[in-house]
Amino acid sequence: MRKRRFCMLLLVITITGLFATAGIVLALNSREIVRAVEVRNPTGSKGTVFVVFRPGVTGFNEDIVNAFIRGLIASDWRVEVTTSSQQTPTNVTAYNIIVLGTPTNGGKPHQSMLDYLARVNFGGKSVILILTSGGDGLDSMGYFRDATINANGTVLTELRFQLFEAGAADRAYTAGTEVAV
Ligand SMILES: Cc1cc2nc3c(=O)[nH]c(=O)nc-3n(C[C@H](O)[C@H](O)[C@H](O)COP(=O)(O)O)c2cc1C
Repeated sequence: MRKRRFCMLLLVITITGLFATAGIVLALNSREIVRAVEVRNPTGSKGTVFVVFRPGVTGFNEDIVNAFIRGLIASDWRVEVTTSSQQTPTNVTAYNIIVLGTPTNGGKPHQSMLDYLARVNFGGKSVILILTSGGDGLDSMGYFRDATINANGTVLTELRFQLFEAGAADRAYTAGTEVAV
């Protein structure tokens, strides 16, 4: 009897822990992340790339976006980088190319990215999409592409990276070095 009660108690604690963890992840994942626009390689000679991304829970999206930016800088692009939030600039006239980075959540790009895409008008400029996901991210990339086209962006390249993919950062770096207008 005592053993049964102990097992029940253990089960209740485990389930409560799982719900609490899920709640914390969801809360962390949905919070607004505002960062000032940061300039990297200010003297870059190729032109300016505007990077908007969503830093996620594991840091994978940010690592991939940063590797891509290192590739851009190796090719001497000037880069301005910030996060997707209500504060993200919507005037993109000063930029040659736009790069958008987002994790997949519930089969779609992060809501902060979709909200940004609903507010911005890219005026036909070239946009590179960087999507990270646990799965293959195909459906999510479809949403990402459609939302970018609706924002009057011309999708130049679509890059998908899977969590735990071997060599993902190297692939992102190489893709960054290959960007051309
Ligand atoms: C709340 C939440 C929902 C997620 N939903 C999906 C999903 O529907 N499909 C998928 O492939 N990955 C999904 N993932 C995995 C993330 O896309 C992946 O871990 C992420 O791209 C890693 O980058 P980040 O930690 O920087 O966000 C989800 C992750 C979280 C936290």
